[in-house]
Amino acid sequence: MTAKDTQAIFEDRMLSLGLARVAEQAALASAPLIGRGDEKAADQAAVNAMREQLNLLDIAGVVVIGEGERDEAPMLFIGEEVGTGNGPGVDIALDPLEGTTLTAKDMPNALTVIAMGPRGSMLHAPDTYMDKLAVGPGLPEGVVTLDMNPSQRVEALATAKGCKPSDITVCILERPRHETMIAEVRGTGAAIRLITDGDVAGVMHCAESEITGIDMYMGSGGAPEGVLAASALKCMGGQIYGRLLFRNDDEKARAAKAGITDLDRIYSRDEMVTQDVIFAATGVTGGTLLPGIKRTPGWVETTTLLMRSKTGSVRRMQYRTPV
Ligand code: FBP
Repeated sequence: MTAKDTQAIFEDRMLSLGLARVAEQAALASAPLIGRGDEKAADQAAVNAMREQLNLLDIAGVVVIGEGERDEAPMLFIGEEVGTGNGPGVDIALDPLEGTTLTAKDMPNALTVIAMGPRGSMLHAPDTYMDKLAVGPGLPEGVVTLDMNPSQRVEALATAKGCKPSDITVCILERPRHETMIAEVRGTGAAIRLITDGDVAGVMHCAESEITGIDMYMGSGGAPEGVLAASALKCMGGQIYGRLLFRNDDEKARAAKAGITDLDRIYSRDEMVTQDVIFAATGVTGGTLLPGIKRTPGWVETTTLLMRSKTGSVRRMQYRTPV
């Protein structure tokens, strides 16, 4: 990596508004493609806008979680340098459109997502799957673990919350690979909110269970999304654990390239994100966490969740601009 790591301090407070703008503009760019059935076009529009906005920021940024390896992603690839170069050295994790299919089908909870921290603050997760488990704030550390089976997790969480397993709601991605897990969770009496895509939002739902009704997230999804979700929970509070999953030698080689030697390691939230970060997500389609883009004659409006882990501050910011 050649990006200069300048001595400038990571001024998270000053940079946060810039980060919100990046998320907002990516969402606005994908707005005309909501419900048009074209995932790729929606993603590309968000990527272009996110990159353009990032390059306006006074940072010496490196994309550590991005659109993929350089040879598969023309822009915002892993290792790409972004920003003016005049500012602090920062790591950036992004998903310009988390929920490309949700956007193309105009289904809830599609977001633009970006997190930023000092250089070296984020796990360089390879583009593989990750087994994930998350709960919200206010619970004893390790109340649920990846080593427990799904029913033990539900029971442990219910005991910690002082409720019955049937009072717990678990969020799971609806995939054939999760059928056994879903059956086991149902066997405890717990409810399941199945989602078709978007597990960053799925995990974030645990941090605001009083609004979302979700107590726990479990199942496998993208490893890059795991680091983004860990960044969000570092700001909102809550626990997430992740273990990389490998389907073949090529995926193991990706991990080796990212400097990962212990392939079975379970990462906690603070091992995936080791220093304070800032996080911004803008709603593209409306959901439980954020409203989607609203269009009224002459205007377009977005809502962005802007958070800083240093202070635990969580803002929901509305932005309106003439069109
Ligand atoms: P995209 O936005 O790239 O379409 O990803 C959506 C997503 O649902 C993620 O939230 C999740 O981590 C991953 O895909 C799950 O992968 P798969 O669809 O292969 O189960």
